[in-house]
Amino acid sequence: MTRTQVAIIGAGPSGLLLSQLLHLHGIDSVVLERQSRSYVEARIRAGVLEQGTVELLHKAGVGERLQRERLVHDGFGLGFGGRNFRIDLKRLAGQSVSVYGQTEVTKDLMDARLASGAKLIFEAADVTVSGIDGGRPTVRYTHGGASHELHCDYVAGCDGYHGICRQSVPAAAIQAFERVYPFGWLGVLADVPPATHEIVYSNHARGFAMCSMRSLTRSRYYIQCASDERLDAWSDARFWDELRARLPAEVAEAVTTGPSIEKSIAPLRSFVVEPMQFGSLFLVGDAAHIVPPTGAKGLNLAAADVRVLYQALVERYRTGSGELLERYSETCLRRIWKVVRFSWWFTSLMHKFDDDPFAHRIQLADLDYLTGSAAAQTSIAENYVGLPFERPL
Ligand code: FAD
Ligand code: DHB
Repeated sequence: MTRTQVAIIGAGPSGLLLSQLLHLHGIDSVVLERQSRSYVEARIRAGVLEQGTVELLHKAGVGERLQRERLVHDGFGLGFGGRNFRIDLKRLAGQSVSVYGQTEVTKDLMDARLASGAKLIFEAADVTVSGIDGGRPTVRYTHGGASHELHCDYVAGCDGYHGICRQSVPAAAIQAFERVYPFGWLGVLADVPPATHEIVYSNHARGFAMCSMRSLTRSRYYIQCASDERLDAWSDARFWDELRARLPAEVAEAVTTGPSIEKSIAPLRSFVVEPMQFGSLFLVGDAAHIVPPTGAKGLNLAAADVRVLYQALVERYRTGSGELLERYSETCLRRIWKVVRFSWWFTSLMHKFDDDPFAHRIQLADLDYLTGSAAAQTSIAENYVGLPFERPL
């Protein structure tokens, strides 16, 4: 039997960042992760960090490589009707975003945690959580063939959408809100220079396409695909042809093709559970909410939850007051629903939903309106760079 103050389930960005921030404030945690370290470090996911996320990573002491290697983007492009219209984030919202892969964020956090002797247990199987409603939370798991028991004050459920923490809450105590989109994203990573300096989101009659990057020599591209699309139906050549067909001509011409080093399909959904806490269990990041990737918000929203939870735990251990902890869910959800709304809106604006020409005309009218309205551009810019952080209610 082991004891810790906070048991953290999941070593994705949420779990690692929470554990690191708690450590810097003298709060002990144990992180249990189902996968191996190399598996977690290799997962290719998000690429865009809001300034608020960058600042939190600095606060966590993992900002140095990020500061050096990130690409700062002052704007992004909206492709439609053959043109590439620039949204000037810096001018409209006073902030930029940083391109720095989630793989790098995870690696930096993992290195920092292990350097300070963190209790990080990889390949922890059969994790269960009990006693969360009675003030004596216990986490049980197996590791290396042996059963273990971890006693703690609080459990942070940072175990993603498919994790067990959300399922540990009685069904009657939690409500889920969901929208599943009738398509997915097929993503390709390739060691070729990016087509553009800034990210481009393209609306096209053939379906959505997007140009992103990880560095000046590594590109990340996505195209909308069917939900049940098979990866093996997409040779590199077919992907490049389809990508270029969906981009404005000037962008398509600038695409450098090359062999893919990763190719994957992600389904798109919006999902939120309320509340995000039950007794001494707190759900964080993808365990509590999913957004479609169109606004690059998933990772940033997870970091925003961590910000609220670590401050609440610090207050609890410093002063004995559980006031911020009690308001964790309420505080987080105010931001979450605004981000869910933005991601849903941006997804609806940019994707092909069916062959309904009326719906496509409405999208084009919305985009045309955007190009002529400073108010509409400011709205998209301030959401994209990240909304201000709420104070607890
Ligand atoms: P996760 O990263 O999911 O981490 C959860 C961790 O918990 C994992 O390491 C998992 O192995 C572990 N775990 C799960 N179950 C258990 C268990 N029972 N016991 C112990 N450990 C467990 N966001 C963007 O902004 N842009 C993108 O392009 C983008 N692409 C994405 C592509 C995919 C395929 C996915 C799944 C997500 C993508 N996201 C993207 C979302 C973004 O990556 C997530 O929002 C972010 O990873 C959330 O971090 P997290 O730590 O909350 O959850
Ligand atoms: C990336 C992913 C996104 O969802 C997005 O909106 C922007 C960039 C990326 O993987 O680079």
